[in-house]
Amino acid sequence: MPQDRDNLAGTVCWQSPSNIALIKYWGKHGDQLPRNPSISFTLKHSFTQTRIHYRPKTNKDQQISLNFQFEGKENKGFQDRIVQYLQKVMDYFPSLQKIHLEIDSTNSFPHSSGIASSASAFSALALSLSDIELKTSGQDSPIELFNVSEIARLGSGSACRSMFPFAALWGKFNSIESSTDRYAIPMGTEVHEIFRTFHDSILIVSRESKKVSSSLGHSLMDNHPFAEVRYRDARKNLQLMLDALKVGDIESVGFLMEMEAMQLHALMLCSNPNFILLQPNTLKIIDLLKRFRSEMKIPVFFTLDAGPNVHVLYPGENAQVVQNYIQSELLQFCSEQNWINDCVGDGPIKIE
Ligand code: PMV
Repeated sequence: MPQDRDNLAGTVCWQSPSNIALIKYWGKHGDQLPRNPSISFTLKHSFTQTRIHYRPKTNKDQQISLNFQFEGKENKGFQDRIVQYLQKVMDYFPSLQKIHLEIDSTNSFPHSSGIASSASAFSALALSLSDIELKTSGQDSPIELFNVSEIARLGSGSACRSMFPFAALWGKFNSIESSTDRYAIPMGTEVHEIFRTFHDSILIVSRESKKVSSSLGHSLMDNHPFAEVRYRDARKNLQLMLDALKVGDIESVGFLMEMEAMQLHALMLCSNPNFILLQPNTLKIIDLLKRFRSEMKIPVFFTLDAGPNVHVLYPGENAQVVQNYIQSELLQFCSEQNWINDCVGDGPIKIE
């Protein structure tokens, strides 16, 4: 379709959340393809908002033309990463050859909170770019979320799971026909209602940026002595997790979630080279949480990303008592008593 110059100018804005994996993706191959399938809850309050003003480019070359600001300030590191990403996804977005982009991205959580922001950042960016492509090519069809999930995956694997409300599964898994390594699929209807009420209180043990980059972390699996065992176990855990999620078996979901978190860190501890991403306060919190659970008989469980912060997950009906406990007993082990009180959410939204 011929591009009218008027179509080449405008503004789009998307807000997209982070997600927390219950079954972890760890190890990749090819162009960001997972070695094993994973499933996550979509979060609500930890999100990235990406606003893009676009206009016709003044020079005629086919290079990316971009000015990137993070939280209102230029950021050379992020700008370079985004240029690289835009070059990679150019085939999906032919309009990028014709337009200049002014991108402004902000996170709802402090950047230095140690929260992995790549899932929310790349999903918000992929949504905004897809929206621009539709507008500049004069199409008024809605955004195709599987497509956008695939494009987000090329920036950060876990970003492809942020696209859907409540829960998403990414990676080919034989018992789910529509599953694929290329993009995530929504799992909301396969998960019991009780999990819609789930909270994820993220206890910020350290605000330092990641010790191990995501790519280095995944590459540790390439010659890992336990790689095959892990990939097999992840599949076994995923089936058990799906069964438990479906029937609302909170205990089994919690048990599997914790096992996955521990396996992720155990794999890192015996990688070559090895990494210790847990901190003394991470272990202290986990220990206290287990004690609290068994004394109070409350279904409260933890999971971890590739870092020291602890995600504490529990049903809404226990929110008051768990949050009181977090505030009185656990915040002392957090960096400057920092925590993010998140919960499962409905996925990305377009900001008009
Ligand atoms: O999407 P990446 O490349 O940042 O990897 C995410 C890895 C974990 O957070 C540890 C697990 C997961 O499935 O989200």
